[in-house]
Amino acid sequence: RVVVLDFGGQYNQLIARRIRDLGVFSELVSHRTSAQELKEMAPKGIVFSGGPASVYTHGAPKCDPAIFDLGIPILGICYGMQLIGAHFGAEVESAAKREYGKADVEVVSDSPLFRGLSDAESVWMSHRDVVVAPPKGFRVDARTASAPVAAMSHPENRVYAVQFHPEVRHTKNGNEMIRRFLYDVCRCEGTWSMETFIDDTVAKLKEQIGDKRVLCALSGGVDSSVVAALIHRAIGDQLTCVFVDHGLLRKGEADSVMRTFADHFRMNVVKVDARERFLDKLKGMEDPEQKRKIIGNEFIRVFEEEAEKLGKHHFLAQGTLYTDIVESGTETAQTIKSHHNVGGLPEEMEMDLVEPVNTLFKDEVRKVGEELGLPKEIIWRQPFPGPGLGIRVIGEVTEEKLEIVRESDAILREEIQKAGLDREIWQYFTALPDFKSVGVMGDARTYAYTVGIRAVTSIDGMTADWARIPYEVLERISNRIINEVDGVNRVVYDITSKPPATIEWE
Ligand code: XMP
Repeated sequence: RVVVLDFGGQYNQLIARRIRDLGVFSELVSHRTSAQELKEMAPKGIVFSGGPASVYTHGAPKCDPAIFDLGIPILGICYGMQLIGAHFGAEVESAAKREYGKADVEVVSDSPLFRGLSDAESVWMSHRDVVVAPPKGFRVDARTASAPVAAMSHPENRVYAVQFHPEVRHTKNGNEMIRRFLYDVCRCEGTWSMETFIDDTVAKLKEQIGDKRVLCALSGGVDSSVVAALIHRAIGDQLTCVFVDHGLLRKGEADSVMRTFADHFRMNVVKVDARERFLDKLKGMEDPEQKRKIIGNEFIRVFEEEAEKLGKHHFLAQGTLYTDIVESGTETAQTIKSHHNVGGLPEEMEMDLVEPVNTLFKDEVRKVGEELGLPKEIIWRQPFPGPGLGIRVIGEVTEEKLEIVRESDAILREEIQKAGLDREIWQYFTALPDFKSVGVMGDARTYAYTVGIRAVTSIDGMTADWARIPYEVLERISNRIINEVDGVNRVVYDITSKPPATIEWE
């Protein structure tokens, strides 16, 4: 594996992502990880990520200096390069203006990172500080018109650094540079794949769980289904799945999930009807973060009670993804929203957590699902948030509003499917803003709700673009919603990408 030390850039997980795509397992760890801890992880290489700070400002994130003595190859990117420079005593200057955007670098050495590429590479820069002269023992590998040291290295110590961002697609040969670091410098073997992930994970689960019993929170989505299948493969009938109908599910969903699991899996699945309970708890609650936390807490309580009824269970398994963890705020990344299965957890839990896919992105989980032979309808089910329609009804959640979202969403799904767009649109749903507006139907004035349509394309949910649904399809959806759903007199289409918006409205 190759470890990425996180110095706080919002897109640092992209680096880990690129490395994995190149066949080497990689994860992001805190910049506070000590040299000793890193040594125990035994990585073949360490990447210092980018970050928003300037190395010379007070409180700027640093790393354990002993990391430089481990003899493990290091690649510093942007802030990571400044840090390496600062550690070895380079001359670093803060430029008056940020250099941001495409730049051409001139390669001036035979650094293995650029071997076989051209002498002039198009790269993506985003920085303020510049290394003006490399530290002692380092050589300059590349430069640009405004950065005299765009890349530098200490080949004997196998320390490499680049000022630009090889992980973003705008750096044309960025992937090739990372590949060269992994294979030519770190001598990685490139054996990481979904198959090895499954074997490793099953082995780890066996060891972690032993002869204890596990309760799995099953939602019917791809994440928790993959988790259930992985755990079932590891420990068989020591696993019991619990499917909670919290009343915030889509139309017909509870029945269809139970049917799919009865047809495809020979696992214990218990269905709990907690609809009233959740609605009660949500009464009068308007704040999105509060709603998310209430739903998350209630989830866990329901499981704990169920576990009690079913006899002692030591572990609670969840389909937490890597994105959930990153977006719920790490030490260095900001909290965007509390995903119910991370930020919503009660402080005191009676069960230990098992989260076997928490290092994976959504598309990677789908690949694991395929490898495990899960049915297509589960693998390609669009993502559905744990708090469900609870965060698609904006403001207070009532049964009347839930019904509007359920019915309008069912129409949207039907029409998208009919138009053959369901695979290319990553996620599509309706949301109900908390306001009414005036309309006219027949000859009468109406004063009713507006339904918002949200449909996005995305790879992993971290960024997204609004889907270009053909006007005729939108028109059909709008007409049907107005005609078939009581209490609605207006339909709008959300044309915002993420960022700056998020996919869900709460
Ligand atoms: P946002 O709204 O943050 O959503 O752009 C990104 C993706 O995550 C889903 N989502 C959640 N999934 N628990 C989940 O399991 C949650 O609390 C949660 N909140 C958002 C969202 O549907 C989208 O696919």
